[in-house]
Amino acid sequence: MARQKKASQKVSSAPIDLRCEYRVDPPCIDALHPRLFWKFSPNGRGQRQTAYQILAASSLKNLSANKGDLWDSGKVESDHSIQIEYAGKLLSSGQRVEWKVRVWDAAGKASVYSAPASWEMGLLQAADWKAQWIGSTVVGGPRTAAPAPYLRKTFNLNKKVHRARLYVTALGIYECYLNGQRIGDEVFRPGWTEYTRRVQYDAYDLTSQLQRGDNVLGAILGDGWYCGQVQALDRQFYGDRPRFLAQLHLEFADGSSRVMVTDSTWKTSTGPILAGDMMQGESYDARREMPGWNAPNFDDRQWSRAIEFADSGIPRVACPGPAVRCVAQIVPIAPPKKADYPLDWHYRGLLCDLGQNMVGRVRIHVRGKAGQTIRLRHGEVLDKDGALYRANLRSAGAIDFYTLKSDDFETWEPRFTFHGFRYVEIASHQDFELAKDGVVGIVLQSDTPLTGAFECSDPLINQLQKNIQWGQRGNFLEIPTDCPQRDERLGWMGDAQVFVRTAAFNMDVAGFFTKWQTDIADAQGQDGAFPPVCPNAPTGIANDGGPAWADAGIICPWTIHLCFADRRLLAQHYQSFVRFVNFLQQSSHDLIRCAADYSGFPGFGDWLALDGSGIVQGGTPRDLIGTAFFAYSARLLSRIANVLGKDEDARKYQALFEQVRRAFVRRYITPAGLMAAQTQTAYVLALHFDLMPQELRAAAAAALVQDIKKRKNHLSTGFVGTPYLCHVLTQAGYADVAFDLLHQKTWPSWLYSVTQGATTIWERWDGWTHDKGFQDVGMNSFNHYAYGAIGAWLYQCVAGIDIDPEKPAYEHILLRPLPGGGLTHAKASLNSIRGLITSAWRKDKKRFTWTVQVPPNTTATAYVPTQDGRVLEGGQSADHAAGVLSAKAEPGVLVLELASGQYVFTSMVA
Ligand code: BGC
Repeated sequence: MARQKKASQKVSSAPIDLRCEYRVDPPCIDALHPRLFWKFSPNGRGQRQTAYQILAASSLKNLSANKGDLWDSGKVESDHSIQIEYAGKLLSSGQRVEWKVRVWDAAGKASVYSAPASWEMGLLQAADWKAQWIGSTVVGGPRTAAPAPYLRKTFNLNKKVHRARLYVTALGIYECYLNGQRIGDEVFRPGWTEYTRRVQYDAYDLTSQLQRGDNVLGAILGDGWYCGQVQALDRQFYGDRPRFLAQLHLEFADGSSRVMVTDSTWKTSTGPILAGDMMQGESYDARREMPGWNAPNFDDRQWSRAIEFADSGIPRVACPGPAVRCVAQIVPIAPPKKADYPLDWHYRGLLCDLGQNMVGRVRIHVRGKAGQTIRLRHGEVLDKDGALYRANLRSAGAIDFYTLKSDDFETWEPRFTFHGFRYVEIASHQDFELAKDGVVGIVLQSDTPLTGAFECSDPLINQLQKNIQWGQRGNFLEIPTDCPQRDERLGWMGDAQVFVRTAAFNMDVAGFFTKWQTDIADAQGQDGAFPPVCPNAPTGIANDGGPAWADAGIICPWTIHLCFADRRLLAQHYQSFVRFVNFLQQSSHDLIRCAADYSGFPGFGDWLALDGSGIVQGGTPRDLIGTAFFAYSARLLSRIANVLGKDEDARKYQALFEQVRRAFVRRYITPAGLMAAQTQTAYVLALHFDLMPQELRAAAAAALVQDIKKRKNHLSTGFVGTPYLCHVLTQAGYADVAFDLLHQKTWPSWLYSVTQGATTIWERWDGWTHDKGFQDVGMNSFNHYAYGAIGAWLYQCVAGIDIDPEKPAYEHILLRPLPGGGLTHAKASLNSIRGLITSAWRKDKKRFTWTVQVPPNTTATAYVPTQDGRVLEGGQSADHAAGVLSAKAEPGVLVLELASGQYVFTSMVA
């Protein structure tokens, strides 16, 4: 990254931000034809790439000499700059590829080459793996964690190493060390997959860290998802203890090579980590530390030989997604104060407020007496007496213990656990002292950098946007989880589906959802049904996750395609989509999904809606939701088939959509455009999924608005209807009502929790209310992102940045701001895969100023609001401005086709 930045500063017109499979210089790829990306960099109006040339070489030397010995694409006349498939020589295991690209602009002028980038292939053949799975004889039980195994291996190097790569994985989680130094900065590797189907591995370049003489590779294994607690189940869901697999490929300067593998010559011991569990927390006894255990010259005679486990043949795959990392550190908003509420078991201590409901753990710097144990309990909120509230964590302990080794200050952070919390109570049975700045919140998240920002003139809405982003940060940890704090933390499909569009604005989630789609495919039933959670875990629900949950299996990849033009993701899982939609067809009755005679799971309804929907009867009927989503999934499949050039399937599933639509209309819509079930969600689905006949849309929208008005501008939607509500209202000409809902401060509303001091999105509209206090402890998370799906409306409608589905990934951008709701300004930016898009509007009485940024190599249609048809840009009539390709007056707007560049439009509005 650093070297790219440096070079691009020197040569501004060279392509920048080179990526392979969405990542910068990935160390381990197993796609034989990895996809390459770059950004066309020149600023200014009408910048367009007309051709490119990629060189891929086996060495930097060749690349610098412009010798593409692996691939020289030649000059390709094309404006494509993303998802370009490598089409060079067949690549082999471990092969390193250096590459660069140059481009031609609209005037046919070639740029200089970009700075070099690289990728490396992983181990492509099963036979490349020579290592044995190893571990310890120590094993925990269904309710008892075992001490974490430490593993070490000494090896001697007597010649110069030219290249060293470590390929490593675990069933469980690992932290690796070389000569006392931590390898990599990833957390919870190799992540969570359906371990019966695949396990991910990583690769590290260790060349510069090896030394002549003795070297030591070390690893600590954690239980993780593999044998720790998953959900509220007993531990050991996948296996009884963690296992480790690694091989170090060494190439020497003299041309010889050697592979060092895990086997029973490794030695193992337990150490200070007495227990580590994602849900329960970690227990660490510093007195048991083994200084130097991962470095040479350590006396390991007391250690035993590692045991080898038979290889069950689980395929190993290079991880296609981002790893979890520490993405931020936060400090308490005030010095920790005495916990002045009754603590259990005579504990006494301090309560610390990090000011933000976050996910991760804390690092403490503390002093007490050697042998004294410090306890850290975590919670999201305080109760009315100011005491730490933990009832909503259910069986998740979320408690860490640290036993001091000395009377001096010591620093500790747990390794193999994470918690969802804002408050941490630090307590002991004896006195202790926290250093100044002795508590730091370590924020952990799948490394999906922020790409989006939204702000406007209303501070409460700005806080809402922050809460949405923090909700995403906390719940995009390896998989999209429902919540990060209680004993659940599962990849609930419905939650992910409602939020995916918002997620793709906020952060770069392409790799994250690519990886999760594999979990979804792995979890798909023989019958084609998708389960409610992926990776699958017992939820008490038979394989069919039901409407709006199972459908995530097709909605999420479609959304990722829209945002990143990822045809490969669609192609790879196409058969899985077909099997799913066929399952819906077969299991429906006269095309009604979840009809009364359906013996499978009829779904969660409009989960947590306040109109009686949800798992209890009433509200929006589950067959209505089911049939609406059946239609939607069939239509998406038709669109996917279309993208993939499968014309016959495209027609077939479009026809299926139309049949289901007719069944839906017959069953749920009266001739007057009223829904058989008079709920907001019923109207929202019928309108948003295009099921309502054209001539009845106005009447249906009016009925929806009437219901909202009847509730004094309140919504009554749950997980299913909420994400689309404001879109439907805006589209139907009721943007004012959408804004009323957005501004609403009494519950149910988005701003209610904000006014109560929330720093994340709550699971329920009424997680806490003045009259009722806390909701049911059985299900009351204060960090659930689902209702944060309003974020997409802020970006797409209020700021007005949207995708043209015909030209996905913002190749052609739709810019249509929505000045309204009393806002005087709003601004969104999106660092899209093609470059930075911004839309910033300001309303000064009647004067409207709108700044937009269209990235190079893209175009946009901009809808400029104007009362009198006049729009100025740079002091002249907008239709004459440079970069404006065409202009068309429509009622209330001037529609401009824009070439790339920055524009500042001014107009007069009502
Ligand atoms: C989860 C939800 C999930 C739901 C299914 C809950 O326990 O937290 O977010 O979608 O179950 O209805």
